[in-house]
Amino acid sequence: MPIIAPSLLSANFLNLDADCKMLNESQADWYHLDVMDGRFVPNISFGPMLIEFFRKATTKVCDVHLMIEEPEKYAEQFKNAGADILTVHFEACTHLHRNIQQIKGLGMKAGVALNPHTPVSSVSDILHDIDLVCLMSVNPGFGGQKFIPFTLEKIKQLRKMIDEKGLNVHIEIDGGVTLENAPYIIAAGADVLVAGNTVFKSADQKATIAQLKAL
Ligand code: DX5
Ligand code: ZN
Repeated sequence: MPIIAPSLLSANFLNLDADCKMLNESQADWYHLDVMDGRFVPNISFGPMLIEFFRKATTKVCDVHLMIEEPEKYAEQFKNAGADILTVHFEACTHLHRNIQQIKGLGMKAGVALNPHTPVSSVSDILHDIDLVCLMSVNPGFGGQKFIPFTLEKIKQLRKMIDEKGLNVHIEIDGGVTLENAPYIIAAGADVLVAGNTVFKSADQKATIAQLKAL
């Protein structure tokens, strides 16, 4: 069964309490929390302060996706805010190995996210140091975009690489995941589905999460 990680970016920020309650009662496994700085991506979302509130609202895993430059400056703040998994972007890290060591040293799980144009071979030499690879299936910055089909090819390549090395690294797919394309994403070898609009814009959010979980 896939791990379901609804993205709170699509939640109702005037009523986060209700959305957290819904998630806590649902079969969702992780809270996917999208941090944007207006520099690495052309949008600004929220930072550690809000994550502290989400941390208090749930016992589920807080999966923090940093779409920011210089993530090393903020890793400790995100740890203190309650992040369980901290994912940085390959494209934002000149010293990626050092960034990963920092995250692990702070006691969090480490993830690396790849933009749609970044080949999966980019993580080949650090795969044994990380817990998760997040393949962006849209260009990061906004919810509600269309899934880029070539991602399916990248999932297969990454699954092969992970299996050949005998590692236990999550493959998380982020962007444009729907009930229609999710079966193909899972069949290609992914095990974590991020879903923003598919969950929060659906009429019955808990039922949608259950449907994704049952795939
Ligand atoms: C995009 C974010 C995603 C986004 C997913 O930059 O990283 O997590 O919120 O939203 P949907 O599922 O609506 O594409
Ligand atoms: Zn994300």
